Amino acid sequence: MKKNVQRQISEVLYSSELKALGKNDPFPKPDNWKLSPKRVVDFVMGTTLDDGTEIRPKYIGKRSLIELAVATLTTDRALLLTGVPGTAKTWVSEHLAAAISGNSRLLIQGTAGTHEEKLLYGWNYPILLSRGPVREALVPSPVMRGMEGGGIVRIEELTRMPFEIQDALITILSERRLPIPELNEESNALSGFNVIATANDRDKGIHEMSSALKRRFNTVVLPLPDSIEEELRIVTERISPRYKREWKEMIDAEHLREIKKVITIFKELREGQTTDKKIALKKVSSTLSTAEIIGVVDNALSMAIHFNEGELTPEHLASGLQGAIVKDKDSDEVPWREYVEVVMKKREEFNEYYNHLKKETKD
Ligand SMILES: Nc1ncnc2c1ncn2[C@@H]1O[C@H](COP(=O)(O)OP(=O)(O)OP(=O)(O)O)[C@@H](O)[C@H]1O
Ligand SMILES: [Mg+2]
Repeated sequence: MKKNVQRQISEVLYSSELKALGKNDPFPKPDNWKLSPKRVVDFVMGTTLDDGTEIRPKYIGKRSLIELAVATLTTDRALLLTGVPGTAKTWVSEHLAAAISGNSRLLIQGTAGTHEEKLLYGWNYPILLSRGPVREALVPSPVMRGMEGGGIVRIEELTRMPFEIQDALITILSERRLPIPELNEESNALSGFNVIATANDRDKGIHEMSSALKRRFNTVVLPLPDSIEEELRIVTERISPRYKREWKEMIDAEHLREIKKVITIFKELREGQTTDKKIALKKVSSTLSTAEIIGVVDNALSMAIHFNEGELTPEHLASGLQGAIVKDKDSDEVPWREYVEVVMKKREEFNEYYNHLKKETKD
């Protein structure tokens, strides 16, 4: 079952970790939770259990943020994860749902075209036409299934949904029940039901949440990494399991230093100044998130493995930079060129990057 699937869901991929955490969990568990809040945080942040089982860190950052998120889910408030794109909101939401409910698939993807029936319930029309509005004709949404099963429901990109659709959640979150007027009945939420929504605050086309809805959520803001070291940990934690043996064979301290250079480039452009704070830089419009750095390193590794006998070079890393940084030609090209000429050119350790980028523009 594990074979050939491109991307396994968290509860399948980490099933042995979840089992080990369950076995080593003497702490109090809220109703219908698979693990205690403490063990849920351990699953997300990583730990070593008393029996020696290694739990890999999934989120790299402040433990207190994840504790706050998990604590919220034990209350009657829902959890809203916000922050700029690529700060692991979706990633954290999936792992939390997997650890708490053992199911991360009760998911609604918010879009401008999301209808109320996606959020509440719809109808199976052949049954509806032949038998009228009966329970068997009702098609429950993931929210309704989460309520009836006492599980965590994930709503991705909540603020992409139109305002009036978002507000359909207010009754569910405050009353913890969903009226079904067509059947003259209602669906009640069991313990364990709660909602994790994600929303990024940078994208175009988002709809502000009403203050009534906002009050039903506790907001946790996931930040960009604090330091280059922390960002390097994220990149290695995310990429090394994918390459397993190759990573061990290919990557030594020298390569990690190269990857750090790439992170430095992103960090300086993101912050609009060099790390020594001596040169102010024009900012690019894109977010330059860690996810982009992961993409650059991933590509570089793939090129090295398939086209250079496993030898990763600065050129491999440099070749993904332009595409990752210049997202909008009009607003990003000038700051990027300026960075290359003003900062990179003058740093000896960036020589290979500079030469490669110059060659790329000539070709
Ligand atoms: N602090 C972090 N710890 C672990 N992984 C991280 C961290 N920050 C970013 N990532 C990685 O970055 C990638 C992007 O994360 P994700 O898709 O969850 O971002 P997002 O915040 O949902 O972005 P968007 O707003 O674009 O939907 C994931 O592979 C995730 O593992
Ligand atoms: Mg996301």
